[in-house]
Amino acid sequence: MVQDELVPPEELYYKGDGDFAWVGNEFLGFFRELGKLQPHEKVLDVGCGVGRMAVPLTGYLNAQGSYDGFDIAKPGIDWCRDKITPRFPNFRFHLVDLYNKFYNPRGTMQPSRFKFPFPDQTFDFIFLTSVFTHMFTRDMENYTQEICRTLKMGGRCLITFFLLNRESARLVQEAKTTIAFQFAMGSCYSNQTEIPEAVVGHDESSVAKLFDKMGLEIQQPIHYGNWCARPKFLSYQDIVVARKTQTIPRTLPLLRLLQLAPPPRKFRPVRNWKKLYKIPA
Ligand SMILES: C[S@@+](CC[C@H](N)C(=O)[O-])C[C@H]1O[C@@H](n2cnc3c(N)ncnc32)[C@H](O)[C@@H]1O
Repeated sequence: MVQDELVPPEELYYKGDGDFAWVGNEFLGFFRELGKLQPHEKVLDVGCGVGRMAVPLTGYLNAQGSYDGFDIAKPGIDWCRDKITPRFPNFRFHLVDLYNKFYNPRGTMQPSRFKFPFPDQTFDFIFLTSVFTHMFTRDMENYTQEICRTLKMGGRCLITFFLLNRESARLVQEAKTTIAFQFAMGSCYSNQTEIPEAVVGHDESSVAKLFDKMGLEIQQPIHYGNWCARPKFLSYQDIVVARKTQTIPRTLPLLRLLQLAPPPRKFRPVRNWKKLYKIPA
């Protein structure tokens, strides 16, 4: 089977991310069941890495459908262009030169200003698997605006997160989670200050507010993950599915739209989890 041949060499992906084929197939199921992805649709994979989601999609999308993926890390894009596109010409991979201290420390442009290289209302379905888990608030705000711009009206997005809410914050505070989110910068969190992009969590209520302002209606329930040792979970990360219900006027500056002050620039230790998330004593 062609999917079996399309497994990249181990040095191109992190073994810690789980089995390449198993996770890809797990997510194809989520795209179909939660995201209602149809074989003829136009798909964008933001932060496509080394094609972990693209490979199973080659067996699902038909000739009418299409797949575009972009990433900031060259080796994965090169592998996908070399192995996937020649067999599946409706699968295209794009390299963008954006800065991320963990994935592309030599990147020259900031993700907070990046325009996705596609016209308005191009895609039926956009997904980000384990990408906002490596991006800060301001970058995520810009990407969410770009997702809304490039989605067709009624189109869906599926995005994975580490969401901080009362339950997960309590588990973090009790040191039960797989990730010790102990530093905060505005509404995002990391387990380290050296390369905080290595793992980033986001405050759930801030994400919900952002999606609402961007005309993306979150489809309830959010499918929480077991990264924080929850007893009930769907996958490892939290999964948010949303539908585009409005077009945001392009002329409105993002920060004014969100009425946000520029976030502080440094991660600092979190000392007040209980107060922040109203965790009972
Ligand atoms: C944990 S990997 C996940 C890759 C892929 N989505 C998957 O599930 O296999 C995170 C990916 O996000 C990419 N990334 C980080 N910042 C990005 C940005 N600003 N825009 C696009 N991709 C980004 C990284 O290069 C990396 O490939």
